Amino acid sequence: TQILTIAIDGPAASGKGTLARRIADYFHLGHLDTGLTYRAVAHRMLEKGWPLDDAAHAVEAARQVDLGNLDKHALSAHAVADAASKVAVIPDVRKILVEKQRAFAARDGGAVLDGRDIGTVVCPDAAVKLYVTASAEVRAARRLRDIEARGGTAALAEILDDIRRRDERDMGRSDSPLRPAADAHLLDTSEMSIEAAFQAARAIVDDVLAKRDRA
Ligand code: C5P
Repeated sequence: TQILTIAIDGPAASGKGTLARRIADYFHLGHLDTGLTYRAVAHRMLEKGWPLDDAAHAVEAARQVDLGNLDKHALSAHAVADAASKVAVIPDVRKILVEKQRAFAARDGGAVLDGRDIGTVVCPDAAVKLYVTASAEVRAARRLRDIEARGGTAALAEILDDIRRRDERDMGRSDSPLRPAADAHLLDTSEMSIEAAFQAARAIVDDVLAKRDRA
């Protein structure tokens, strides 16, 4: 049997994480949220008080990232996400994390990986590549709803600013910028429910599997 690698990329709060989890469950594949690996580096830098552009310490923190031990809760903080996009511009940090991500992808049966550069850099040979987007306004509104659902409060304008700033950093960096792979399927979820996005993605994967069977 061939292994099935599914690459899901997109900007912050596009819904790619939720989609990746559902697709992984449906096709019985492992799932790695690669954003957590950059967040883990950022979290350690913040904890130690190291400046986020201190490449030597960032590399040390990247080496210590353990895929089996990523504490989602500690890494979910907003400050960690912002710091993650700053350490993510350091090429040596990316090199170390990409190696760990590829090892995960090579595990038996295949896997779903989501991030910014999965289809372009981490798994350029993935059988299925999805690029999930939504307008910045829709993404900000979704993020606000998430925060409020967890009992928090935030200002929509600030969230929107924040999302735009992170988009700029992720799309503008020279090493592995966020962009769709040439062979990625684009999925604009601005006007789609989670369920509709899942059904669209599932249909794309089913199609690839059917073509494989016929080959
Ligand atoms: O996806 P998430 O919001 O958790 O990612 C946090 C940050 O990590 C992103 O803004 C991006 O700068 C970086 N990242 C990356 N490459 C990936 C995944 C995340 O550069 N594959």
